[in-house]
Amino acid sequence: MSNIKCIGILTSGGDAPGMNAAIRAVTRAAIFNGIAVKAIYRGYKGLITGEIVPFKTENVSNIIQQGGTILKTARCMEFKTPEGRVLAHNRLVEEGIDALVTIGGDGTLTGARIFAQEHNFPIVGVPGTIDNDLFGTDLTIGYDTALNTIMEAVDKIRDTASSHDRLFFIEVMGRDAGFLALNGAIASGAEAAIIPEIALEKDQLAETIENGFRKSKNSSIVLVAESDETGGAMGVAERVKTEYPQFDVRVTILGHIQRGGSPTAQDRILASRMGAAAVDALLDDQRNVMIGVQNDQITYVPFSKAIKIDKPINRELLNTLRILSI
Ligand code: F6P
Repeated sequence: MSNIKCIGILTSGGDAPGMNAAIRAVTRAAIFNGIAVKAIYRGYKGLITGEIVPFKTENVSNIIQQGGTILKTARCMEFKTPEGRVLAHNRLVEEGIDALVTIGGDGTLTGARIFAQEHNFPIVGVPGTIDNDLFGTDLTIGYDTALNTIMEAVDKIRDTASSHDRLFFIEVMGRDAGFLALNGAIASGAEAAIIPEIALEKDQLAETIENGFRKSKNSSIVLVAESDETGGAMGVAERVKTEYPQFDVRVTILGHIQRGGSPTAQDRILASRMGAAAVDALLDDQRNVMIGVQNDQITYVPFSKAIKIDKPINRELLNTLRILSI
């Protein structure tokens, strides 16, 4: 028997479509198991300031289809200090919260890991980020929706690219990871992707152009992952203007459009499974783990691995993209 009577739940860092489905799943799975739920607004910030509200099943009605997070989110500097974390711990004790489920990406899990160790507090993480950059899970909540948003946007840009015979560099998010760029390029039939994972290995722009990627086409689309390593779409386009002035180049930065919108079925299902699994994990006395899904099975990934180990891209996809862009 677990002695957890009340679970606190929060979302932190960048919002991601499907976070609401995860909040719903954690709330309902906890109540199903006789555990009370308290919702913490604005992530770790709300934990410090005490923006905490008891949640019933009705509080999470009609949210599975909504993007963003009903709990709001914030990037909190105070929680990065030991003093801030003491305040957060005091608040948990005062509220009678015995365990936390934190939904978010790398920064959220890093905060959770430090806090859990410092205050010996049970925390389970649920990976919610469009970046898909957490080790130990095949997918993160929000990634599939963002990928579909990218695909739809590129489909539209392609109309202009082909009408004007232009070369477009389209920048997508991903922080330091190329999952959105690489898979977005394959899904939208783009010619190439420029991603940080292989930026140090080769000059991706030169390779793309020298391979004669426009031989049989007038227009071309290249997806560029944001990051210092790639230089972003603006950096790449600047290079083209000086090194390959024959091209008529345009840049589109998709930006935060990628974070919004109603989650796809895949993200809703993933979030529902992971949210329910987070409650199971706490009942099973797990702590300091992130819920993952590998080969369609729920796994528990220690925070130290999820955050510290770089999740590798699948290199076979690079080859697929290269072959299909002839
Ligand atoms: O981590 C999610 C993400 O959207 C990244 O892809 C991006 O680099 C970052 O957040 C942008 O953060 P913000 O919304 O704070 O500008």
